[in-house]
Amino acid sequence: MTRILQADAAAIAEAATILRRGGLVAFPTETVYGLGAVALDEVAVRRIFAAKGRPANHPLIVHVQSSDGIESLCARWPPAAALLAQRFWPGPLTLVLPRTAAVPAAVSGGGPTVAVRAPRHPVAQALLVAVGAPLAAPSANRYQTLSPTTAAHVAASLGDEVELILDGGACAAGIESTVVDLSDLRPRLLRPGAVSLSSLRELLPDLIVAAPAPEPDAPHASPGLDPRHYAPHAELRVLPRAQLLATLASATQRVGVLALGPIAAGTATVEVLAADPDAYAHGLYAALHRLDARCSLILAEAVPDGEAWLAVSDRLRRASHR
Ligand code: TXA
Ligand code: MG
Repeated sequence: MTRILQADAAAIAEAATILRRGGLVAFPTETVYGLGAVALDEVAVRRIFAAKGRPANHPLIVHVQSSDGIESLCARWPPAAALLAQRFWPGPLTLVLPRTAAVPAAVSGGGPTVAVRAPRHPVAQALLVAVGAPLAAPSANRYQTLSPTTAAHVAASLGDEVELILDGGACAAGIESTVVDLSDLRPRLLRPGAVSLSSLRELLPDLIVAAPAPEPDAPHASPGLDPRHYAPHAELRVLPRAQLLATLASATQRVGVLALGPIAAGTATVEVLAADPDAYAHGLYAALHRLDARCSLILAEAVPDGEAWLAVSDRLRRASHR
């Protein structure tokens, strides 16, 4: 049986002991819960892939306390990395750089780079201090399913695959970190996330933003960019409000509605999220988890166009990909 412990000092110490002997611990970050293992322990890292059912070529993010000692993981740390880390770390920004030989190939999905981030959540920080080593941690959910923003979400998705879950309450951002590739000449956005594009551009005016909708069979720069990801079990369709209401009227399934404001949805289960990108992101996965538990079809109201909504619209598009 997996155990869920309130993340106090004793629980964090126990979690560190489990991690140091090669076990898996789920822990809260400011974005989503992570499924952690000691990053330089290749056997432990392989357990993450097995627990998630994740393909071996999908690389993991390595979590560090800060950029101190980052040379042990990253073979290069260009000025742009230093600048971004100084501005956004600890926080929800992940940087991809060439890796050193110390980083097990398993962490990097066999590739030449490593993704690093210093999380801001006090429990994640305390755990990194207690373990005294970097932690590889993908989101603590089964491959391609909804990301977890509470300890209960982790338990429901991973069950006994994880030895201990540290409960730190609901995650503040509620959406994953922004991933920026600095391994090439020009910085490139690999995944929109909790750090906004506009705040990144202040420091990286030449940032390349990847095409929003990769073709289903095209090769991906980052395997996490697979078109289907972050998805509920229910079918999810994203529609403008008028079309949503028309679809709702003719639906025969148990329907859930994810709306941007009050909506007359009859007998459907309704979740209303704020029409603000940060507030929407904060509530998105929790709302989808609740709808997924009750419905076989989820109709999500299309969110506004525009860069401020990029991370949210990216997750909705992937969640609706079949
Ligand atoms: O907010 C987050 O980033 C959460 C918390 C736990 O930190 N973690 C997370 O991990 O979302 P995961 O494994 O679910 O997603 C990692 C993303 C994927 O899109 C993956 O492809 C990309 O980061 N990534 C990791 N290493 C990479 C690398 N070496 N090169 C390119 N992309 C990489
Ligand atoms: Mg994930």
